Parts: sequence; structure tokens; C-alpha cells
Amino acid sequence: MKILVVGNGGREHTLVWKLRQSSSVTNIFCAPGNAGTGLEATNIDIAATDIPRLIKFAIAEKIDLTVIGPEAPLVAGIVDEFQKAGLRVFGPSKKAAMLEGSKKFAKEIMKKANIPTAEFRAFRKADEAIRYIDEKENTDRFVIKADGLAAGKGVFVCLSKDEAREAIRRVLVHHEFGKAGSEVVIEEFLVGEEASLLAFVDGTTIVPLEAAQDHKSAFDGDSGPNTGGMGAYSPTPVITTELTDLVVEKILIPIVHEMQKAGRRFCGCLYAGLMLTNQGPKVLEFNVRLGDPETQAVLMRLKSDLAHVLFAAADGKLHEIEPLEWDPRSSVCVVMASAGYPSAYETGKPLRGLDAAARVPDSKVFHAGTIQQGDQIMSDGGRVLGVTALGDTLAHAKLRAYQAVKCIRWEGAWCRKDISDKATGRQVHPAIEISTESEVSWSRLI
Ligand code: AMP
Ligand code: GLY
Repeated sequence: MKILVVGNGGREHTLVWKLRQSSSVTNIFCAPGNAGTGLEATNIDIAATDIPRLIKFAIAEKIDLTVIGPEAPLVAGIVDEFQKAGLRVFGPSKKAAMLEGSKKFAKEIMKKANIPTAEFRAFRKADEAIRYIDEKENTDRFVIKADGLAAGKGVFVCLSKDEAREAIRRVLVHHEFGKAGSEVVIEEFLVGEEASLLAFVDGTTIVPLEAAQDHKSAFDGDSGPNTGGMGAYSPTPVITTELTDLVVEKILIPIVHEMQKAGRRFCGCLYAGLMLTNQGPKVLEFNVRLGDPETQAVLMRLKSDLAHVLFAAADGKLHEIEPLEWDPRSSVCVVMASAGYPSAYETGKPLRGLDAAARVPDSKVFHAGTIQQGDQIMSDGGRVLGVTALGDTLAHAKLRAYQAVKCIRWEGAWCRKDISDKATGRQVHPAIEISTESEVSWSRLI
């Protein structure tokens, strides 16, 4: 069977790596891919949002299954177009992808389905939104969100009314997010620990994956600006089996059912971003795709044949598959980033030490922002690598992941040094303190 993976990040490299392990898969293509996918699949120079050319390629190559990684093509309707062309595809339709494409839509449908989530109001006009903030008496803390897709940048966690007013102006007056910011959602500020639960869904059957925890803040101790994710680990002690069951019962089943009722049948990967509050889990957001870097941590532990599962999901046959099999070991993924990320960052730096990193046992370096130039792999994005390892415990997996990180060098490279500490309550292990010669700086403030 031939598979096409659409996208070019760490999530897509992980999908390619995992799908390649399936005995039924003969060829894998990745469009447009990165240097890592180029080593394990055939990269095709077509952008993830160029739907007509992707369809032309899939028809010409007789692709059996296309797996869509990122949200932008899903929200643009890539799945509908593939299906119209008679092609099998894993991902939600345009109507179902609204769950990520519009925060207001997501909040409204959650409300209808009685799903626990933060209280909210939506506004188009800045003066009305600001009046709402001014008049709110019992709190000074708000979360302001641009309604549409803003590459993870349209969320402002505001700890004062001044900050909230400023965030509203940035979205509705200065139009920093263009059309994605034609409306704002103002949410109640939730307190708790965050975790992600992902599930494969075929419209009716829900297959939860092992839970993971992402580190969204740039710097150690969850400080600094929000990023796409600086690391992840799985499993997470905060999501027990009982809690997974509760999330499935109170959140995943009701949303899949409500989407079905609304004529927006959900197929693909449903990602619930959760805040574990003292009143129980509440949904921060839904994503309609696999998370990045959660995918790296979670798929590292998946033992089942992923191609088989994704085929079944695309065909509405998830009820026929065997329960997913998981490696009982823990995994940790450390993201290595370019100087400047998550603001303007440097690219075009040659990467060294990838071969040495590959020799660290039970580790895998997933590429995100990389490009092959002749014999050399260069940095080509903000998040450059997701260095992932398995270990008998989270602490062991962390040790191995950072051992591999220490092998890799490029100018300006940095990473957080505390990935998974949240789970273990540990400080940095002395054995993984970085040597002074290293070019990798730990959580450097840039
Ligand atoms: P989102 O993209 O909606 O998940 O938001 C990005 C980040 O903002 C989340 O990972 C949380 O850290 C934070 N956040 C979002 N909504 C809330 C909320 N209602 N209360 C507190 N923090 C939030
Ligand atoms: N890791 C967060 C995301 O994929 O949205």
C-alpha cells in the first residue's frame, strides 16, 4: 500500500517513521516533508495547502491513504476535496474541522453538549468587549482568544484588566491576526494542570491514545511566551485510567455525538486540550489533528500497526480493530529550537552530531524545521528537532533524551532542560548537566 503524509513538521516525520514500520506499507511519500522525512520516505515538493496539486499527485501515484498532519489544510477542506476525487483520507471534513477553526463555534457546541469548559462570551466589537471586561466584578483575570486559526499565537492569558483590554485591541482594532481575529472569545481564567488526550475517531467509534503532556511555554518552569510546544512526555501521572474514562464519557463521547447531530460527523484525530481543575477536567480547546510534539512522545510508545488503524478510521471501521497495544515504558520528547524562537528566528545553520545522537539506545531524533542541502542538514524552522527517547521510567527516558540532545550542535540551538520534571517533581538530574563546550544553551532567554 502507498501512503501520502501531508505536512512538514515533527509530527509528520513521526507519522512517516511509524507508518513505515507497517508490513503492508510499500511506499511512503511526504508533501512537502523535511530532511528527516526525506531519509525515510520520498519527499514531494507540494505545499500542504496546495490541495489541487496534492490530489493530482495522489491520483497519479494511486495513493491508498493520505494522512493530513496540520490544521490549515483540514480547515480549508482538504478532506472533502480528496473524498470528492474518490481518494481515501484520514482527517475531518471542513465542517468538522470548525471545531479547531473557530473557537467560538467550539465553545458553542461544547455548551450545547454540556461539556465542562471555561465560561465565555464572544464579541466582534472592541468597545463591547472592553465594556464586558470593565463591568466584570469578581475577577481581573481573563483569557482572550482570536476566533480563527492563528498558529498558536492568538491566545492571551491576561492577569489584569489592562492586559485584557490591550489584547482585545490587538485582535479587534489593530487586526494583528487578520480575518482570524474578526471576533474574540473572552474566557474565564481556569487554574490547574494541563494535559492532552488524543483519540482516533471514525464518526462513531472513539479509540483513545495514551495521554501525554506538552510544555507550551518557552522556558523552564513553564515561564516565557507560548510556543507550539517545547517538549512532551507520555504517560502522564495526572491522567489516570479513571480520568481517561471520565474524559471519554464526559467530553469525547458528547462532542462526537453533538457533531454528528449537527451534520458535522467527526473522523480523524480528536485532540482534547484539558485543564485539570479542582472541579474536574475542563476543555481548553479541541484540535482536529494529532498534536506536535505530543505525537512524537505518544507514537514512540505505540506498538500496534498504525497504518492498519488509520485505514480503519478512514473507512469507518474502527470498531473492527484490536485494542491498541502500548509499550509500557515512558517516553520523553525534547524540542530543540533555533535562536530567537518563538519570535523571529535564525535558520540556515548546519546541524552536527545527528549520527552520534542516533546511537543513543531507544532514542529517535524526529526532524521538524530541517532541510537537506547536498550532504548537509540545515536548520529551517523555529522548532528544529524533537529528540525523543524511551526509558523504564520517565526519569530514565528523560536522561536518554537529553543524552541524545547533548550530541547535537548548531549555532544558537537551545532547548528547555526540564521536560517531564512536572511529572516527576524532580529537579535537573546532575548527570545531564550540559558541558561548557556545548553550543546548546538551556532555555536561553533570547
Ligand atoms: P489554547 O490554544 O486555547 O489551548 O490556549 C493556549 C494556552 O493558553 C493553553 O495551553 C493554556 O495554557 C492557556 N489557556 C487557554 N485557555 C485558558 C483558560 N480558559 N484558562 C487558563 N488558561 C488558558
Ligand atoms: N502541542 C500543541 C499542539 O499541537 O497544538
